[in-house]
This record gives sequence, C-alpha cells and structure tokens, in this order.
Amino acid sequence: MTKTANTMWGGRFAAGPDAIMEAINASIGFDRRLAPQDIAGSRAHAAMLAATGIISDSDAKAIGEGLLTVLSEIETGKFPFSTALEDIHMNVEARLRDLIGDAAGRLHTARSRNDQVAVDFRLWVRDQCDHADQALAALQHALLGQAEAGADWVMPGFTHLQVAQPVTWGHHMMAYVEMFARDRSRFADARARMNASPLGAAALAGTSFPIDREMTAQALGFDRPMANSLDAVSDRDFALEFLAASSICAMHLSRMAEELVIWSSAQFRFVKMSDKWSTGSSIMPQKRNPDAAELIRAKIGRIFGANVALMTVMKGLPLAYSKDMQEDKEQTFDAADSLMLALAAMTGMVGDMTANRDSLKIAAATGFSTATDLADWLVRELGLPFREAHHVTGSLVAVAEGKGCDLPDLTLDDMQAVHAGIRTDVFDVLGVENSVASRTSFGGTAPAQVRVQIAAWREVLK
Ligand code: ARG
Repeated sequence: MTKTANTMWGGRFAAGPDAIMEAINASIGFDRRLAPQDIAGSRAHAAMLAATGIISDSDAKAIGEGLLTVLSEIETGKFPFSTALEDIHMNVEARLRDLIGDAAGRLHTARSRNDQVAVDFRLWVRDQCDHADQALAALQHALLGQAEAGADWVMPGFTHLQVAQPVTWGHHMMAYVEMFARDRSRFADARARMNASPLGAAALAGTSFPIDREMTAQALGFDRPMANSLDAVSDRDFALEFLAASSICAMHLSRMAEELVIWSSAQFRFVKMSDKWSTGSSIMPQKRNPDAAELIRAKIGRIFGANVALMTVMKGLPLAYSKDMQEDKEQTFDAADSLMLALAAMTGMVGDMTANRDSLKIAAATGFSTATDLADWLVRELGLPFREAHHVTGSLVAVAEGKGCDLPDLTLDDMQAVHAGIRTDVFDVLGVENSVASRTSFGGTAPAQVRVQIAAWREVLK
C-alpha cells in the first residue's frame, strides 16, 4: 500500500514512507514529553515574529491562543498523537492548523525543527537540573537530621572495609552531605552553561528574516542567544553534562546504598530500615530485605549507560544536525527519571531509618580500632618516634590477638612487657569515646567538630 506524502514536507514526494521507515523515523512515542517545552518555544517564537513585523499581530494572537488549546488537549489526554506526523513538533503544528487554519502555517517562518528541538530539549534538561537540585537538598536535610541525632555516637570507621579508627555516626552522615553538595554544584554549573538559546539558528545557517533572538532568549529564561548557528543546532553538550553530573550523583547514591545494605545485615545491625523501605521474602519468613537500597545501588547502570550511549551517538557527527541526534532523548529521559526516583527513595530511607547506637558502639571497640590512639600516646607521652611507636603498638596488638582480647583488656603488665615505659594512663586513650573526642582537627570526627559542620550546613541549607 502506498501512503500519501507528508503534508508538512511532502511537496517533492509522490509517495509516503514505508511502514518500517516510519517506525525507525518517528520519535513521537517518546518526544511527546517535550510538548510543554515545544509549545513554550513556539509561543515565544510567534510573539517575536509579530514584534518584528514578520507576521501580523492577529496571526500571532491566533497562534498563541491555539497553542494553549493544543497544550490543554495534551495535558488532558485528548490529543490525537500521530506516528505519521513523526515528532512532537509536527504533531503540534498539524493540530494547530486544524484549530486555527492557515495562520498556523506562518509559525514555522524563520525556524527549523533543528533549532526547535534544540530549544525544547534544552529547556527540558534545564528543568531536570532544577529538580535534581531540589531532590538533593531534601536528601541533605534527611542526612543532617541523622547527623544531629547521632553527632557523638561512636561507630567503626573503615578502610578496606576493615576496622580502622572509631568515628562518629554524625561524621559519617555529614560525609554524604558534602558529596551531595558537590553534586548540586555540578548540576548548577551545567545549568549555567546550558542556559543559552539556540532558537533562531534555524536549520543551521541563521535566517534572512529580521528576527530578534534576544527577545526569544529572554522570553524562555535564557541568559543569551547562542552565538554560532551551526553550534546551536548541533550541540548536545548540555545533555551530556547533565548525564555526567547524574552519573557521578548516582555513583554516590550507589556507594551509600551499598553501605545501607551492609549496615542493615544481621552481621552488622548498624541500622534498621523502616517497614516502609523493606520487603519480605515469599519463602523465608525472617527476611527483611533492603530492596530499595539495592535498586538505588543498581540505578547507576542505566544512568551511566545513558551517558556512554549519548557520547557514542555524538562522537564523529559532522556539523550540523544529523538524525542520529534524535537518539539523545529516550536515554536522557530514562536517566533523569531513574535519578529522581533514586534520590526520592534514598531521602525516604534515610529519613526513616534508625541507627542502632549500641551495635555501633560495640563494633567501634572491636578490631583494635584504637591502635592509632595508642601509637599517638607513645609518641606524645614517651617521646618515641612514630615509626617505633607503630612497631610497639603492633606488638601489643599481637599480644591481644594471642590472648583473644581487645587492646583495653590487656593488663599493664602485658603492656610493660612490650615497652617498660608504658603507664596506666595509657588506658584513657584506648576507649572509643576518648578516641573520637580527641580528633578535633578541622574536618575531624570529634563530636565538637561534627557539630560545627552541622551548624554550618544548617545555615547553608536554610
Ligand atoms: N525529531 C527530531 C529530533 O528529535 C527533530 C528534528 C528533526 N530535524 C530534521 N532535520 N529532520 O531530532
């Protein structure tokens, strides 16, 4: 069956596309998500065309109002999307023609789908940067709440996932506040760089009509029009930067999720997830699975995948527009949805989880976690060089290991057998509370330091 040629560009075509051509070519299945941005861009363009005398005020008025009708049809699910019309741009324009007649045909003056899609997608990604920022701020608030509650709760700090030194729960929570702050600043940087308007670049070379690109840029909240029309229609850096920032953010979420998975296990019992964020097993009645954390841990896969996919689409593309670039949207949409879901789930989980102060404390004292405090004491009190103190402490750890006890359980005799100068006040530094309280250097784990950091962040996040 031969279809009729496209009414939008079919002037030189005798027949319509093959069904498979239509399937590979059409983007309306996914780019309908850009409808609000497409209509905002078109309304700004029409108003500018009238202000510059390129179209009449009455046509511009009919176009502007007709576009609002189209938008409400889309929002209420009444819009007749058509695959034959390929994409959101042609679907909207065709419907506008149904609604207002020939004036609709003037909307595309001095414009191309190339600058149109670049505007739409840029506006959409810009919104996502704002959503990410808000979601990250909410997560920071949840973390601050945890940090405040347990600013002085001791827990083991790990390196290599081996007990290293005691730290405070508040300190650990605040580490994530810092990480998510860097994520916010990456989204903010990307947003600032992407905030220039491609509209008016037309197909690739600009236009002979006396358009006002400052006017449309301003109407759409952009800082300025992009300065090179070839670059304007072929640039997708904004989406890549969003995906790169999203990937790093998802990597942070994944690390945190991994800790929650470990911490909520029967072996650790550092935290208890609330019922709202746990699932049971259909066969093992005792199970309480941290599924949300596991899924957050996994979301990085599709988010980083989208980043790699778009990078690969863009590499090697000659200037200016190529249809390859239609492949920019689906993965970016999916990455943004995944990131927002992961952020919301993490915020909910962190807000509802309960840290087990007793388990944290017991774990903090195991694994010779105050060995460094002991070595520091030998340096400070007995004047040993650090390397020698390290060696003496290592011998004491070996003695404790042999006796099957922890460092504070050794007797003074045990200690003096290794180094005669050791005095009874050494036991003061072997307690985990004293250990964390002593780490008052800037950024250190002492509760006093942690409270300073919390107060500073409370101020910033107000
Ligand atoms: N659907 C297209 C896209 O997403 C719109 C731009 C089409 N431009 C063109 N010259 N065929 O990229």
